[in-house]
Amino acid sequence: MLNQKMQKAINEQINKEFYSEYLYLSMAAYLEDQGLSGMANFMKVQAEEERFHAMKFFDYVNERGGRVFLKQIDQPEEEFDSVLAVFENSLEHEQFVTKSINELMDIAIEINDHATRSFLNWYVDEQVEEEDTFCNIVYQLKLIDGKGNGLLMMDKEMAGRTFTPPASE
Ligand code: FEO
Repeated sequence: MLNQKMQKAINEQINKEFYSEYLYLSMAAYLEDQGLSGMANFMKVQAEEERFHAMKFFDYVNERGGRVFLKQIDQPEEEFDSVLAVFENSLEHEQFVTKSINELMDIAIEINDHATRSFLNWYVDEQVEEEDTFCNIVYQLKLIDGKGNGLLMMDKEMAGRTFTPPASE
């Protein structure tokens, strides 16, 4: 049976993961509007990943005999200063999510919930990947300094991203 404090914290995390889905979709809409459909595709796939993260928590709560409560999802940002700003915001957002996952882990450790600790390890590893992905894109965008050719090459490359459920599933 899932501890009440743990359940409440995971429910809050489910909301953050759905917000992440919404945020990346909003970024996809902005990028489409900028004529960068490859980058928009990248963000749509990212949004699918976030939904996967949310549903993995959703299923876990149920598996442990807990109860999922869905809360209102905040409105995401709609406008961005530049393509670089989109990806810098994404990186910042992922750093925020990492902090949040770490706080969940702190609770699991505090209450000796070994099952949740084991479950959360997947997210700890996933966040390393998430931050690394956005960090590399920010680095590349800075390297090309917003120049047309480089941007179009990155856009083309990012058009190839597809959603595949993470390997551990
Ligand atoms: Fe669900 Fe991008 O972390």
